[in-house]
Amino acid sequence: MEGVTEPSFRDLVLARNFPSELGGAFTEFVRVIDRPLPRHVLARHLGERRFAQPVGLQLMGADLAALAESARCAIEVGAPLVDLNFGCPAKGALRGCAGSAVLKDPARLEATVRAVVDAVPDHPVTAKIRAGYDDAEHVEDLARAAEAGGASMLTVHCRTRAEAYQDEVDWTRLARAVQAVAIPVCGNGGVNVHADLERLRRETGCRLAMVGRAACGDPWIFRGATVTSADAARFLLDYAEKLSSLGASTKGAVGRVKQLLVHWTAGALTGTDADGRTGWLREQDPARLLARLAEAAGADRDAALNPSLSDEDRGTAVGALRPVPAIHT
Ligand SMILES: Cc1cc2nc3c(=O)[nH]c(=O)nc-3n(C[C@H](O)[C@H](O)[C@H](O)COP(=O)(O)O)c2cc1C
Repeated sequence: MEGVTEPSFRDLVLARNFPSELGGAFTEFVRVIDRPLPRHVLARHLGERRFAQPVGLQLMGADLAALAESARCAIEVGAPLVDLNFGCPAKGALRGCAGSAVLKDPARLEATVRAVVDAVPDHPVTAKIRAGYDDAEHVEDLARAAEAGGASMLTVHCRTRAEAYQDEVDWTRLARAVQAVAIPVCGNGGVNVHADLERLRRETGCRLAMVGRAACGDPWIFRGATVTSADAARFLLDYAEKLSSLGASTKGAVGRVKQLLVHWTAGALTGTDADGRTGWLREQDPARLLARLAEAAGADRDAALNPSLSDEDRGTAVGALRPVPAIHT
């Protein structure tokens, strides 16, 4: 997710869900305009750590030559697969005829997938669509177009572009996409708790299920672990420290932590504060918020403010992680 699943956050989530049924993750979309993206930009989105679970690099664009070359570069810098975004509803994407704009034209969707598949024939190319642009009448056609273009897997966000991020979801659209194609379909939209993952697969026939926003409030949603408030506080501290180690100011890092706290549901973190979660959000002093989190985590206050400690040094849940060498070099 744009602005959320950059490597700092994504790596912590992957680490907390290993081993589990979490099959992989995607980068936020990287926009390709009219020329191939520089390798260092693609590498930055992938991050440095490699996990047992693949992290696909998601591209979005309308210039097929630039998109194809960017996909080649993505593979060169270590992406195990490339995902194509046909769901972004942002005005910028629509103006550039990219993202969900392509949902109006299944033939263009197919051609876009094919251009990228041809560019990286030895690696999987996956596609992510919404159920439609204004309505979901043509979800089957869109799914078939992605398959005909050569996509190895199709993620379907069950809302249309017009429905944006509304609460209600209609999973029957996912079932229709599953019926229309032979490739694996990953269902997305409205998975709020761990049990929804299995329910989505059971009710729609999707082989895989994807979580978006709920993972921001509960990074353990994939494995369904019930964590303590100390675990929850530790996660948020680790996130702040990771961002600081990459150059973020304390204020900037705590701002990002607060973005997660707005949605936070894991670990009964609210139970540690008489005011509830809003008590954390009302904390104006970034250093004090970190110190309070450190206290909730049962950690040393100075350690919380010291960004130099690595994940492994602290022996947190991250210690259970088995980073593997680059999956594809
Ligand atoms: C802030 C935000 C950023 C997003 N960025 C992306 C993105 O970069 N690529 C993408 O495929 N979907 C993106 N999405 C859509 C989500 O991946 C997901 O499809 C959507 O939120 C529905 O799933 P959910 O109901 O589980 O949240 C974004 C959603 C939000 C709220």
